[in-house]
Amino acid sequence: MRALSKSQLLKWCNPLARLASRFELPRSGRDASRSLPLGDDCRPGHVYLVGAGSGDAELLTLKAARLLQQADAVVYDRLVGDDVLALLPVGGERHYVGKAKGHHSVPQAEIGALMVRLARQGKSVVRLKGGDPAVFGRMGEELDALAIAQMPATIVPGITAASSAAACMGIPLTDRGHAQQLRFVTAQLCREDGTPDWAALARRDETLVFYMGLSKVDAICAGLREAGLPDDWPIMLVANASQPDQRSLVGSLADMPGRLAAEPLPSPCVIVVGSVVKRVEASPASVANQARYACQR
Ligand SMILES: C[S@@+](CC[C@H](N)C(=O)[O-])C[C@H]1O[C@@H](n2cnc3c(N)ncnc32)[C@H](O)[C@@H]1O
Repeated sequence: MRALSKSQLLKWCNPLARLASRFELPRSGRDASRSLPLGDDCRPGHVYLVGAGSGDAELLTLKAARLLQQADAVVYDRLVGDDVLALLPVGGERHYVGKAKGHHSVPQAEIGALMVRLARQGKSVVRLKGGDPAVFGRMGEELDALAIAQMPATIVPGITAASSAAACMGIPLTDRGHAQQLRFVTAQLCREDGTPDWAALARRDETLVFYMGLSKVDAICAGLREAGLPDDWPIMLVANASQPDQRSLVGSLADMPGRLAAEPLPSPCVIVVGSVVKRVEASPASVANQARYACQR
């Protein structure tokens, strides 16, 4: 019989091993001998654009947690939670580039130059950003700076604030009976010089999630009502989602400005608009999560 080559053997064995692992019998208790499927890639002179998630360190991806331990230098933002920063090795090189109280953020060009300088020194660099770096995270500008300097980069996605807030309130963002579309919107559009297309946003088959909108709640509620959504259309605000000091308000487009004035929420905060929000009241996950995060409604 003809002997099989190594590549032929692997071609058959790998799928069989994967299939077998799906049908393994459940083991009793926790199996400490099983290790997590971690890679070992953390290259010198390489920049990793990593999502830190919304604050709860357990919401980090395995890849993000590993890179935080292995990188030579970490460049991080204001929205990265303390629990996540606590995972960095003691004494490791860190650079804070967020906005200090009463000061401007570090200009984007300086952040790009810092990453390039560190990578040119032969360091492996983690650029750590809150949530998902690809969602309202200015990642495009940072990729451009790295491309101009011909620095290799890898993107490691994170859990964005919308997903985290919905999970912590026990609701889905889409639902066959409520929303067939999902839109992430920057509320920065609601500045005086830029009017959002309220008519396009005021849909009943969609969930809208506004980022950076805490100071624009009045404008969002008024804009959507004027464009045709009913006064009792559901809206919820979730601040510090997934963190011990998470707080939330649930109401309608008509009453939310008053609720927020009576009970101001801290930043960061996401605003979720849509009929999925009706599910908060009935959600068993909501009750559990709100107890876990000491939510206030
Ligand atoms: C510059 S954007 C960054 C978004 C981030 N890249 C993400 O994917 O979540 C900042 C906005 O994200 C939202 N945000 C970030 N973290 C949050 C959290 N833990 N709870 C609620 N909102 C959050 C707020 O709307 C905040 O104004």
